[in-house]
Amino acid sequence: MSKTIIEPFRIKSVEPIHWTTRPDREQLLRAAHYNLFLLPADDVLIDLLTDSGTGAMSTHQWAAIMEGDESYAGSSSFEHFRKSVQDIVGFRHVIPTHQGRAAERILFNVMCKKGDVVPNNTHFDTTRANVEFVGAEAVDLVIPEGKQPELVHPFKGNMDVLALEDLIQKVGRQRIPLVMITVTNNSGGGQPVSMENVRQVSAVCRRHGIPLYFDACRFAENAYFIKLRESGYESRTPKQIAQEMFSYGDGCTMSAKKDGMANIGGFLCTNNDLLARQEKDLLILTEGYPTYGGLAGRDLEAIAVGVQEALQEEYLCYRITSTAYLGNHIAAQGVPIVQPPGGHAVYLDARAFLPQVPPEQFPGAALAAELYLEGGIRSVEIGTLMFGAAAKMDLVRLAIPRRVYTQSHIDYVVEVILEVWKYREAIRGMKLAYEAPFLRHFTARLTPLEPAAVTR
Ligand SMILES: Cc1ncc(COP(=O)(O)O)c(C=O)c1O
Repeated sequence: MSKTIIEPFRIKSVEPIHWTTRPDREQLLRAAHYNLFLLPADDVLIDLLTDSGTGAMSTHQWAAIMEGDESYAGSSSFEHFRKSVQDIVGFRHVIPTHQGRAAERILFNVMCKKGDVVPNNTHFDTTRANVEFVGAEAVDLVIPEGKQPELVHPFKGNMDVLALEDLIQKVGRQRIPLVMITVTNNSGGGQPVSMENVRQVSAVCRRHGIPLYFDACRFAENAYFIKLRESGYESRTPKQIAQEMFSYGDGCTMSAKKDGMANIGGFLCTNNDLLARQEKDLLILTEGYPTYGGLAGRDLEAIAVGVQEALQEEYLCYRITSTAYLGNHIAAQGVPIVQPPGGHAVYLDARAFLPQVPPEQFPGAALAAELYLEGGIRSVEIGTLMFGAAAKMDLVRLAIPRRVYTQSHIDYVVEVILEVWKYREAIRGMKLAYEAPFLRHFTARLTPLEPAAVTR
């Protein structure tokens, strides 16, 4: 057997990318107030801002799109979508939404009220914001190992089960309407959660009568990590593993823009008939009728095919190996990353990369700006800019879109990072010039502290 793991596809349709010069990028970055979200995508060479909705669809997905039934109610596309999703998650009700945060908004509106507490391994930014928007408190309970970027542990996304028990004792079961587990743990470095941990958390929840929900965005990648790293799962298929994981829960939220392999879409699932009714009522108010939920019939078809493709073993092997390839090549040269590399992304540890920049000067934002200046690479800060004082780490996430970039693109990214690593001591921090009241990182305006981002 050959040792090289190749992309398990060939390319039928290509999309040109655009080169800029360093002086162009200096000007573009200034105009974008040093916030990479504010850059025109055409001025980005390699876009690693997110793996969300940025993947390439397969010929099977495009073919399914042509079968989209755009009927307002009872479309056959909804049936394809429902059957395909249910085949994996097994939950009684599958409610389509236009993306993950819409599922979150509906879930927390129906289940939570002011003063409630929602534990999670680590809330993603939109999840935290939606919990807080209804007046509840979002509590992160990832295991201590999950907060140490350099530490290697197979399941750094695990929830601290004792901390969960303590929290339930402290605030009382009545104030905890649900517990969530995010697979994989995006804000904690794209790290997986073990089946053993899911089982333990589920047992605690059952004992206290608290429903367990998954934030399931990357359920397929998580399943593959379990296959690779957890004993007893070596010969199980990723699909069987995912099915077992969901069997320990009561519902899920999902952004189909990740392991749904689609450019838009999401869903909310539950086993609770009463909740499903309330959720569908809210869905009709803001998203659409329960057989389309803000999506076109063709989107439902793309997701129906996509969730199954995401579980294919050859695809997952390529996906996890190619992400690790980037992480391992820069780590080998001393670049500090969250270890081990995550499933969908590699996270640079900006506090260790730029020790001269304290968290209040946004080391992640400063490093992300520098990667753009050096090589036209767009990444995203996950740290003090995103989470304020609650940030435990300052990371720069390099998220890999699914089936989009080839190995030479990734080799180029490695080169750019290593170049920035060479002149890291000259990089300065940033200060905030504008911030929105919530989710400030999307629209924040920054200015570099003197001297401005290195001119060479
Ligand atoms: C773990 C996690 N939860 C929820 C979301 C929100 O999904 P969406 O962007 O589709 O609203 C994301 C998106 O990145 C995510 O990574």
